[in-house]
Amino acid sequence: MAAAYATRSTYAWEAPSATDRRSPCPMVNALANHGFLPHNGLNVSMDNLITALNASVNLEAAATELVGAKALTASTTGNPATFNLDDLDQHGIIEHDGSLSRADIYFGDNHSFNSTIWASVAAHFTGKTISIATAAAARSARISAAAAVNPTFNMSANDVQFSLIESALYLSVFGNPILGNAVTEWVGILFREERLPYEEGWCRPAEPLTVVGILAMATSVAVASI
Ligand code: HEM
Repeated sequence: MAAAYATRSTYAWEAPSATDRRSPCPMVNALANHGFLPHNGLNVSMDNLITALNASVNLEAAATELVGAKALTASTTGNPATFNLDDLDQHGIIEHDGSLSRADIYFGDNHSFNSTIWASVAAHFTGKTISIATAAAARSARISAAAAVNPTFNMSANDVQFSLIESALYLSVFGNPILGNAVTEWVGILFREERLPYEEGWCRPAEPLTVVGILAMATSVAVASI
């Protein structure tokens, strides 16, 4: 069955055009670039998200629904059942300060990949794989650096939890859902190119990534951050 999903030939990567909408999430953008989500980034429904995240990274529907329900509250499409990918730029819904690869909204652009910020985070990733401890250290250092330069820096408890989940997601998708150890090269390709690293050997995880598993990994990142 797995081969019927997520192959490069089925979901060829195509860069976004100037008018295609994209989000501050490297994974959502990668899914649009590969055509798992509408390439133009418009009118994305919960069904679109569930199908796309299942076919691409084997995220169980309940996990997609948790984040997807938040995403729909940002809708500007005129239909509360759909959103455009750039609706996710709205600060305080999912988008938060202290991102790994985006500037804080205080500096004007909380949407675009920021190579300077990403380089400061990726400097922690010196091995072939990223352990939970390394992911935690990179995230903590980035949050401290953001807080030091942004006079309006703020992360609510919800923001902190989403930020932990984001680290948990990349550790799970590109590593082991319990142990982490994400392949550094694959994580870099997601962030820098918004592409799934099929050519570099990644494939869709065989086992579904569950809410329970993702939240447990987020807790592990939090514990390793203390
Ligand atoms: C319904 C599905 C999803 C939605 C709506 C969503 C939405 C978002 C949003 C709005 C952000 C921006 C947060 C910020 O940095 O301010 C974000 C960040 C992020 N997302 Fe997603 N996401 C989804 C699924 C995933 C999945 C499956 C992954 C797997 C790798 C992922 C990986 C990330 C990462 C690593 C970040 C942090 C980016 C950074 O801090 O620079 N997301 N997501």
